[in-house]
Formats: sequence, structure tokens, C-alpha cells
Amino acid sequence: MQQGLNGNHDVIVVGSGAAGLTAALTLAETLKVLILAKGSLTGGSTAWAQGGIAAVLDAGDTFEDHIRDTMVAGAGLNRQETVELVVERAPPAIERLVKLGVPFNTDGNALHLTREGGHSHRRIVHVDDATGWAVQSALLEAAEANPNITLLPGRACIDLITGKHEARYSGSGRVWGVYALNQETGRVEAHTARATVLAAGGAGRCYLFSTAPRGATGDGIAMAWRAGARVSNMEMMQFHPTCLYNLDVKNFLVTEAVRGEGGQLKIPTGYLGEGERFMPRFDERAELAPRDIVARAIDHEIKRLGLDYVHLDISHQPPEFVREHFPMIHEKLTGLGIDMTQGPIPVVPAQHYTCGGIVTDLAGRTDLPGLYAAGECSESGLHGANRLASNSLLECFVFGEAAANDILAHWDGFDEPPPVRAWDESRVTDSDEEVVIKQNWTEIRRFMWNYVGIVRTTKRLERAQHRIALLSEEVAEYYRHFRVGTDLIELRNLLQTAELIVRSALKRRESRGLHYTLDYPETLPEAKDTVLVP
Ligand code: FAD
Ligand code: SIN
Repeated sequence: MQQGLNGNHDVIVVGSGAAGLTAALTLAETLKVLILAKGSLTGGSTAWAQGGIAAVLDAGDTFEDHIRDTMVAGAGLNRQETVELVVERAPPAIERLVKLGVPFNTDGNALHLTREGGHSHRRIVHVDDATGWAVQSALLEAAEANPNITLLPGRACIDLITGKHEARYSGSGRVWGVYALNQETGRVEAHTARATVLAAGGAGRCYLFSTAPRGATGDGIAMAWRAGARVSNMEMMQFHPTCLYNLDVKNFLVTEAVRGEGGQLKIPTGYLGEGERFMPRFDERAELAPRDIVARAIDHEIKRLGLDYVHLDISHQPPEFVREHFPMIHEKLTGLGIDMTQGPIPVVPAQHYTCGGIVTDLAGRTDLPGLYAAGECSESGLHGANRLASNSLLECFVFGEAAANDILAHWDGFDEPPPVRAWDESRVTDSDEEVVIKQNWTEIRRFMWNYVGIVRTTKRLERAQHRIALLSEEVAEYYRHFRVGTDLIELRNLLQTAELIVRSALKRRESRGLHYTLDYPETLPEAKDTVLVP
């Protein structure tokens, strides 16, 4: 038996991306906060964000328009009250980031606004084409300077500590913190706190091709589910239309802002219709239609013509304009022998964002007492069936703050954690099995890509479900017998998340937003969440 190793911390935040750091900075005004992060502190998607953050800042723009654009992209599945809350809190969120020193691009005295698909106005504040890195750096610097915040990287959280882990077993759903693998020592630590905020990011790595970083394995979603929280809309996996097609570099995003600034999608040379700008055939908004529409159109053209990729071409703009707007992408592509000022970029759709997740209310509260969720691991109702570009970082800022404020407002009601059981360290390692773990990892990602991708059928989903069931048995067996390592933790979560995605996809008997199935091509009159109950 042992008391939590960090009993002096009031709140635990799992994740050091935009959502986790925002929550921690707000909480740290009065409370002691422990932030745990898998791998490095900059290993989440936040650091990789390119395009920017959506906010109504232009005189000609309105909250109503941002709300409408969000709901149109979300195919009516969004929760209106969440959309209103987030849109209205966007300008103050940007102001806070400016105060923290994020060097947004400016246009005279105002912030420069770029444009992305699905937005009816220029509305995206950005730091060149590497907004995420600037935001991550500013938030992290502030957290590192805050004496009330302790940052512990290299901790892969395994499971939430709940009533069933209490030394005097209560079996309640109350969350008291997390068991986390110290990735350096290989020991499992029990970190307890009065409140826990999950901000562990998305589950993009369920798919073979994804723009998300290596650690996006759905850990937060899987942990919350195992502890008894509901998840919803897991079938709504977003595929970004324009990931670089390159045999060596498989997950480099080419920001939507390239299309926002005039980039056109074309049939590549050597194929029927070469050079044709095909998006106007699919949607009157052409390249600036919401992502689900553009990604499906590209997928259609790739399958119709037997292509490996399509072309994204912005070379009609002056070279200086391209270099100035997209310095990071220009440099990266130049290193790969592609000059985007002179010719097209080969692109394909790739998994990009997890719209579904842990069900939360407007204060970031989950179903479990003591547990909050914010950012990509949550389903707050903002994105509905398809996220509008650049609304995701925004959600992290608004809900990171909302969760923290709710904890602060109800602090007196949060009890001290009881003594909890230590992790059972008696399990052994078996190096042969580690090879199998890696193979299973690749297998899941491959069949999720092939069977649970942009266009689905019931038969394919059932095939995926069958494979997941077989692999889950195998992984549960490893988990019972072998010492946990990061790969096993991630594989277990990847499988759990894949299972939730497929189960949700089978439940939705219509096509809506990101979920498109040939067996039910119509959209039903009433939009309903797919809610899974543990
Ligand atoms: P993340 O930033 O992903 O952070 C997750 C954190 O959780 C990390 O610190 C990680 O280490 C930690 N973690 C995960 N599992 C565990 C575990 N088991 N134990 C401990 N810690 C754990 N959105 C926009 O709005 N605008 C953009 O321009 C934009 N561009 C993007 C470009 C790319 C290439 C990608 C991949 C995404 C982009 N997005 C963009 C989406 C956006 O970046 C993410 O949705 C957002 O950053 C998620 O933030 P987060 O705080 O929820 O999670
Ligand atoms: C991009 O820059 O295209 C990504 C923006 C987003 O995911 O919101």
C-alpha cells in the first residue's frame, strides 16, 4: 500500500499540449498542479499545428457567422450551446496568448487573418505556417516559470486510479489520479490528486497514414472508457485532404491555408484530364469546401484514375508571396526536392483529427466525479460530425480554462485522496513478445486504414471488428503476464480506441459528415450523437 507519490499536488493534468497547459496555468493561480506527459513535453499535436486559430476579430465578421460555419461543417451534429460558448470566448483566448508573447503575424496594427476551408471570412490568426510551435513554446515557458506547476515528462499514464484501487476498496467511480509508467526507470508510479484533467490528445495513430505525432494513440480516451466514462461520436475521424505524398516522409501536413491563399487541386500529369482543377466538379466552394468533402473528392479521383496522389498547386502566386506565407513548408519541401513556387506538391488525404472522445459538459466535466477532459481527447459538442479548420486549438484554450475554473469554483467539495494500492510490479518481461507487439501495432493501423477509412461499408467494418476482437484477446493476455512498457500501453489503447471507432461506425446507420458508408448513403433527418456507455 502506498499514498500517492505526489500527495502534495492538488490537481493532476495528463498532457502538456494546448489543453493541458491552459488548464494548468489557470489552476496554478491558487493550486499546486502536476503535469504528466508521455515522452517529451512538446510531443503532442499542438507543437505541429500549422494553419492557426479561428476567432472573430475582423470588423466584417460576426459570431453568428463563425457559429454557422462551425455547424455547417459539423453537419448539424454539433451542440449549439458549446459552439456559442467557444466562438464567443475565442477573442479573449487570443488576447491571453498575445499577452503570453505568442508572436502572431500582423497586418498594420491588426492581427493578420488567413483563410481556411469552410470559413466564410478570413478568421485565422497564425504565426507564419508554424502556429503550433509558437503557442506550445509560449505556454510551456509560462508553465516552467510558474512555481505552482511541476512538469514531469517521460510518464506514460496507464490507467486512472478509481475507487477499485483504494487501499480500502470502495469500488466507486471517483477518480483519484493515475498510474503512470516512468519511461526512464521502467517503474510504475501512483500519482494521486483531488482532481484529474485528461488532456491527452487524439487517436490518429490508429491509422496507417496520419498527420498526428507518434504518441497520438488514444490513451486518454481509452483510460476514461476503462474507468467507466461515456465516449461519443468516435466514428467521426477527420481526414485532412492534403498530407504530403512522399515515400520517405509519410506524415507531413501541407496546411489548409495553402488552399486558403489560392492553392488549387489538380489531376497530375500523365493521367486522363491532366492539369484539370477538379474540386469545382464536386462543390461550389471548390478547394475551400469543408474537409470531409475535399478529402472524399480526392479519394474519389485517386480511385477513379488509379492515382497515387493529386497535385496541390499554388505556383501561380508570386514566389515571394509563397515563401512569405509558408516559410516552414517551403523549406521542408525544398529539402525534399520540391519547389512549391514553381510547381505542384503531390498530396494525399491522411487521418488528421479525432472529433469524437470522452463526453464532457460545458465545464469539461466527464461522467466520473473528480475527472475532467479537455482538447482533442474530449467530445464537447463543438465539432459535431466534422471539425471546422482551426477550431481545435481554440477548443483547447476554451475548455482547458473552463475545466480549471470549474475545479477552482468547487474546490472545497474535492476530498483528499485516500491511500491507494501500489502497482503490481511482479510481472516479467519477455523480449520475444515485444516483436509481436510491434507487428500487432502495424496490423491494426493497416486494417483501420483499409476498412475504416474515408469510405466505409458494413462488411468492411465487421471485418475490422473481427480482427480487433482477436488482437484484443492476445493483447489482454500480454497485459496480464508481462511488465508494461510504452509500446504495450499504447497498443492496448490503440486497440481499445479502434474498437470504439468501429463500434460507433456500425451504430450509425446513415452517412453524415466524416462518416460515409456505401450501405447507408443518405443523411437521416435528425442528427443524433453515437454515445457508447461502458
Ligand atoms: P496534444 O497537443 O496532442 O497533447 C497531448 C499531450 O498528452 C501530450 O503532452 C502527450 O505527451 C500527452 N499524453 C498522451 N498520452 C499520454 C499518456 N498515456 N500519459 C501521459 N501523457 C500522455 N488545430 C488547429 O486548431 N489549428 C491548426 O493549425 C492545426 N494544425 C494541425 C496540424 C497538424 C500536423 C496536426 C496533427 C494537428 C493540427 N491541429 C490544428 C489539431 C490540433 O493541433 C490538436 O487537435 C491540438 O493541438 C490538440 O491539443 P491537445 O492539448 O488536446 O493534445
Ligand atoms: C492546417 O493547417 O491545415 C490544419 C488546420 C487544422 O487542423 O485546424
